[in-house]
Amino acid sequence: MPAATASIAHPQDDHRQAYRNAMARLGAAVTIVTTDGPGGRAGFAATAVCSVSDSPPTLLVCLNRGSSAYQPVSLNKVVCVNVLSAEHEALSRLFGGKTPVEERFAGATWHPTETGCHRLEGALTSFDCRITSIADGATHDVLFCAVEAIHTREDGQALIYFDRGYRTV
Ligand SMILES: Cc1cc2nc3c(=O)[nH]c(=O)nc-3n(C[C@H](O)[C@H](O)[C@H](O)COP(=O)(O)O)c2cc1C
Repeated sequence: MPAATASIAHPQDDHRQAYRNAMARLGAAVTIVTTDGPGGRAGFAATAVCSVSDSPPTLLVCLNRGSSAYQPVSLNKVVCVNVLSAEHEALSRLFGGKTPVEERFAGATWHPTETGCHRLEGALTSFDCRITSIADGATHDVLFCAVEAIHTREDGQALIYFDRGYRTV
């Protein structure tokens, strides 16, 4: 006899859903975070990226421990954070889905960075970083990333994720 599959709603599930709904109201710039090195090449779409400090220039990135990029990032200890422009929506979908890594990178032109990562051609700005420490964020690792090089484009529109959809600014 199969095990019962019916689930009983738990107050924590409501709380989690309320949080997800609230986060949908927080517009955020879309980035693609790449890594390469002994752990292999990987990349993922990320909105959980923000500035920590300019002294020294430091970003934080939240990475899901279940992501295919988790092990490569952990071993390589370097990332390049590429801030997407309006024309990168299809690329964001590639890096945000379950697409094989080769197909993800085949969707754009990349340039090697000093840390050995991949900088996206046409990104509004790219931060080439070395991971200096990692904090425990339950389901996620919070990566503190020291910025070693910056490549910025002066024109272009931003790609924003808001209300569970892509917008441009
Ligand atoms: C708009 C958007 C924002 C995302 N932001 C993050 C993020 O900040 N951190 C993260 O770990 N995953 C984030 N994801 C999910 C990863 O991109 C996704 O888990 C990963 O690329 C797919 O998992 P896989 O590589 O294991 O197939 C985001 C996805 C999308 C579409």
